[in-house]
Amino acid sequence: MTVVVITGAASGIGAGLARHAASLGMKLVLADWDEIALKVVADSLSTEVIAVPTDVRDEAAVQSLAEAAYDRFGEVDILFNNAGVLSSGLSWEIDAATWQRSVDINIGGVVNVMRSFVPRLIAADRRARIINTSSVGGFLTSPYMAPYSATKFAIVAITEAMAGELTALGSKVQVSLLAPGPVKSAIMDEHAPTETVEFMTVMRGMNDEHGMTPDEFAPLVFGSIERGEYWIVPQPEILDSALQDRTDMILERRPPTSFDFTSGDGE
Ligand SMILES: NC(=O)c1ccc[n+]([C@@H]2O[C@H](COP(=O)([O-])OP(=O)(O)OC[C@H]3O[C@@H](n4cnc5c(N)ncnc54)[C@H](O)[C@@H]3O)[C@@H](O)[C@H]2O)c1
Repeated sequence: MTVVVITGAASGIGAGLARHAASLGMKLVLADWDEIALKVVADSLSTEVIAVPTDVRDEAAVQSLAEAAYDRFGEVDILFNNAGVLSSGLSWEIDAATWQRSVDINIGGVVNVMRSFVPRLIAADRRARIINTSSVGGFLTSPYMAPYSATKFAIVAITEAMAGELTALGSKVQVSLLAPGPVKSAIMDEHAPTETVEFMTVMRGMNDEHGMTPDEFAPLVFGSIERGEYWIVPQPEILDSALQDRTDMILERRPPTSFDFTSGDGE
């Protein structure tokens, strides 16, 4: 038996991971704060599945999610720490509540899931993997997306710290960092302030044109898990050369290049 827990499972990448896991006969624990959409996804799957409405910002709710998973299945093998949001705007104009929401969901939510599940995974003393979702945007910055960049960079750092800690403990639990490139989903649907409407329209257009579907993306993620990979980068063509350019920029002490989003190449 393989038991998979997925946060943010009601839409996009999370729903695609759920469908693929179900197709492999895995048992599922699905969580999302969108209770209705979560039920639609859960009801569409032909495997043993529980849907647990959960706001990942709420520590007690995430503890209840972990309890529900262990009560039902007695084990967790793969945990996708996937729920996230994207807000846009000029970094100094974005209101405090929007900044806080990004931090609370994209960092706080990921940490709540780690705090609730990892002690249980370690105590079980069996192989398990937690996959923290960052983004290509966790390595490459973008104007107009400061809360997203900042929180996704944080996940890269937190996950590397966690990997070192699990290794130091000699734990059977392992962690991976998932860095998606463009995947068709609802992540860019949040209302954009006037100053970023054009930017977000271009970003959405690029995502629609070049993005993978969640159902194309999910098997690549499971392939990486099968191979025990730490870095799960299903679209290396989006990350690698741009990360090299960014690293060169820093090492050569060049200032950030201007970002001509209308050219579509990010430089
Ligand atoms: N789609 C992309 O191009 C892309 C690229 C890089 C990274 N990502 C990351 O992938 C993850 C999944 O995003 P997606 O693209 O599928 O977007 P999505 O909006 O389609 O799905 C995200 C899901 O998370 C849920 N969610 C948001 N806040 C929550 C909360 N507080 N508690 C519980 N659930 C919550 C939403 O209801 C939604 O169902 C995110 O972390 C996102 O940052 C996506």
